[in-house]
Amino acid sequence: MHAQVLILDFGSQYTQLIARTVRELGIYCEIVPGTAPKERVLGGSPKALILSGGPSSVNSEDALRTAPGVLESGLPIFGICYGMQLLTSELGGKVTGWGWDSVGKQNTATGDEKREFGPAKVRVEQPVGPFKVLGSECDVWMSHGDKVSELPPGFVTVGSSSGSPVAAFADVSRRIFGVQFHPEVHHTPKGKELLKSFLLESAGVTPDWDTEHFIDETVARIKAEVPTGNVVCALSGGVDSTVAAVLVHKAIGSRLHCIFVDNGLLRLHEGEETYSALQELGLNVKIVNAEERFLGELSGVTDPEQKRKIIGRVFIDIFEDEAHRIQDVSYLVQGTLYPDVIESVSVVGKSAVIKSHHNVGGLKENMKLKLIEPLRELFKDEVRAVGRKLGIAEKFISKQPFPGPGLAVRCLGELTAPRLHKLRLADRVVRDEVERAKLTTGIWQSFAVLLPVHSVGVMGDSRTYDEAIAIRAVYSRDGMTADWAYLPEEVLRTISTRIVNEVSGVNRVVLDISSKPPATIEWE
Ligand code: XMP
Repeated sequence: MHAQVLILDFGSQYTQLIARTVRELGIYCEIVPGTAPKERVLGGSPKALILSGGPSSVNSEDALRTAPGVLESGLPIFGICYGMQLLTSELGGKVTGWGWDSVGKQNTATGDEKREFGPAKVRVEQPVGPFKVLGSECDVWMSHGDKVSELPPGFVTVGSSSGSPVAAFADVSRRIFGVQFHPEVHHTPKGKELLKSFLLESAGVTPDWDTEHFIDETVARIKAEVPTGNVVCALSGGVDSTVAAVLVHKAIGSRLHCIFVDNGLLRLHEGEETYSALQELGLNVKIVNAEERFLGELSGVTDPEQKRKIIGRVFIDIFEDEAHRIQDVSYLVQGTLYPDVIESVSVVGKSAVIKSHHNVGGLKENMKLKLIEPLRELFKDEVRAVGRKLGIAEKFISKQPFPGPGLAVRCLGELTAPRLHKLRLADRVVRDEVERAKLTTGIWQSFAVLLPVHSVGVMGDSRTYDEAIAIRAVYSRDGMTADWAYLPEEVLRTISTRIVNEVSGVNRVVLDISSKPPATIEWE
């Protein structure tokens, strides 16, 4: 795809949100490091640039800056927070305040110590250019220490807030604009409209990005790239690998060979259900039932990291064996997504190129296959939209995330067939009841965990000494942080009663009320 808009990233936690907002406007954009060389920024002839926020202060010695020539390119530019401050300092204005440098060291040398975090109101005094969509006053989200104290030559103040005398500025003739607030977050209700007005009206960008267009282009590209020969794909039953496979299948048909390894660590009936769903999608898929092999290798192992390593290694062995049986293979399909490939200047470091937990990330050197990653330009919600357009069933598209090592991470202690069976039955109860109560849409994940403890109980007239199940349900936007979900009391009661009645060997059910951090979503 050709990016009409580039987002120059200065390490803001919201950079991906800017990109998603722009794409929701039907405009294909990409994120590049804010410090990228001029050729990289201007080489693809973008029509507009957006400078993201960032944690550092433009006054600090190690401040991140655009390469020489980028701001002078004549392109329309929209600076957000740090991006606005950078425009200020580079174009001859002044920034003062209380910033932090990029390693979080406070920089108080610049004097004015009033910061502005959270909701604020901006009074719009000069609604020029894209700012006419804001009206005379608007709610915004602020998050900054530094602020513009002197406009660069040629700029006018568009609006101010109680903490920012220059909350927005504009140089209409050069089509350069800046805001101290964050238009990309939903707490700035008119933010999307503001970005739209900048892109469509000030920058003259024409929206050309939708899922249909993406599917047609991708299919044509794969057809051209793989005119002959075979392609392999490891399917997990998750959304990403399935959508990737269906796209490639659309391009090359049965030359795509999908391999679905049932490791015996799936949820109840998930293996068979996934296999038939994949076949219904028309995919050429082979299921490998490898439960015995996995459980054999995992026998006696209780350490979670060791479990993961064994599962990863056995998976790769099986996948390679299967792939070697297919003639003339030179490509491997992976469901890599855009957040995995963004080269970011984010303070948490460069994004990993391949998810560390990605199943086929560790293929051996001798399997020198070229990669086809049809989703590497997409965010997760865009993958779902593509999946819907490709006719993949909704229950598949809106599936909860499920870890690659499967129930191994939810079965604490030794992995044996009877313990996994217990966990599966309990997990089925949690899923049934959450679905029955129609709670699935808000909840990110809900499942059961089998704990490695025995405790005393009483059933009928006899004493029991059985295992315990923990119920885990969380809200989350991306899995990076999470809050525990407060399931209604009657749902919890039904789950608890059903588990002890239906799952032999379990006499106690507990509820996990931990958020992430400090806990994680899975237990392990
Ligand atoms: P944690 O437990 O780290 O999990 O809070 C965050 C999210 O990642 C999922 N997860 C995995 N997904 N392979 C995956 O594909 C894995 O090995 C893996 N481990 C955790 C987890 O379910 C949650 O959504």
